[in-house]
Amino acid sequence: MSSTVILGTGSYAPERILTNDDLAHTVETSDEWIRTRTGIRERRIAAPGESTSDMAVHAARRALVDAGVNPAEIDLLIVATITPDLPMPACACLVQAKLGVPSTAACFDLNAACSGFVFALDTAAAMIGSGRYRRALIIGAEKLSAIVDWQDRTTCVLFGDGAGAAVLAPSPGAGRGFIGAQLGTLGESADLLFIPRGGSSAPSTAESIAARDHCIRMKGKEVFKLAVRAMDDAAREILEHHHVRPDQIALVIPHQANLRIIEAISEYLELPMDRFFVNVDRYGNTSAASIPLALDEARRAGRIRPGDLTLLVSFGAGLTYGSALVRW
Ligand code: ACO
Repeated sequence: MSSTVILGTGSYAPERILTNDDLAHTVETSDEWIRTRTGIRERRIAAPGESTSDMAVHAARRALVDAGVNPAEIDLLIVATITPDLPMPACACLVQAKLGVPSTAACFDLNAACSGFVFALDTAAAMIGSGRYRRALIIGAEKLSAIVDWQDRTTCVLFGDGAGAAVLAPSPGAGRGFIGAQLGTLGESADLLFIPRGGSSAPSTAESIAARDHCIRMKGKEVFKLAVRAMDDAAREILEHHHVRPDQIALVIPHQANLRIIEAISEYLELPMDRFFVNVDRYGNTSAASIPLALDEARRAGRIRPGDLTLLVSFGAGLTYGSALVRW
């Protein structure tokens, strides 16, 4: 198995900003409640007609420029998303066509919710490691505004839209790039965070749409507890497996769901909060887009230097969780 390096990253967030105060006009909530419970101040909302694939393409173009790679060189394209433009075909196929990625590329979607980017990174690294793929484009992109119940204050304040991308290639030398990942799944808890209708077991009906059962439903307290435990475990396990001490991590890029979850992981790992990249205040939870959006912002802000070790750690619907170590 050859190892994999991240050649470049890119991200995109729609222009429209929806603040907590804006939300307080439509549901019974307040800026104070949202900020103190979640750390979120505002989130981005896609423009009418702007799709997940459009946002994915913006982020991908920036990652390709950063990597110095032409779309014609891409032979593997994975879009991690729970909000594809259409149930069929895969969002990755639409992104392929918009970007001009060749027909010989393998293009597919990956549904692991908020853990989607970490799952895609591990998948792409394994496929590159097999020696059969040389240039992978992995994207996390979500238009969660399309599946949020805007009348449910317990969920609508949490989510936002956006995209992030990375270009991967075989590593020219050892000691740099993707070191490993630790993925996990708690399928028995699937009903804590799900969309009740619109799938093959329960197609949407006029009544179910009127009841907004095609939107996200979440048991927030239970998800919170499991998220902290699973992210702590995923972080701890990967560090132990690779004989890395927490203080050797230059920057943690956690899934941006809730500042309190990130603070709990900081305490558990005994790593100060200045070693955690946080942008949940500006974007809310963008599911599969959250980690690549944060990773790209951290790189562009100079928070990641050559030689730095970074830890990505995620948790999402499924329930899925995962961690990954990357040396820059
Ligand atoms: N504004 C005002 N009050 C509210 C709001 C709101 N937006 N939402 C809920 N409340 C009320 C509740 O109704 C409840 O009132 P009650 O006591 O009268 O019944 C009270 O606030 C407390 O509600 P809780 O749910 O207990 O609040 P909690 O402190 O647990 O915070 C939250 C809720 C923020 C959702 C938290 O549980 C959380 O972050 N959970 C994890 C979510 C997450 O991380 N998801 C990750 C995966 S997402 C994915 O994969 C797509």
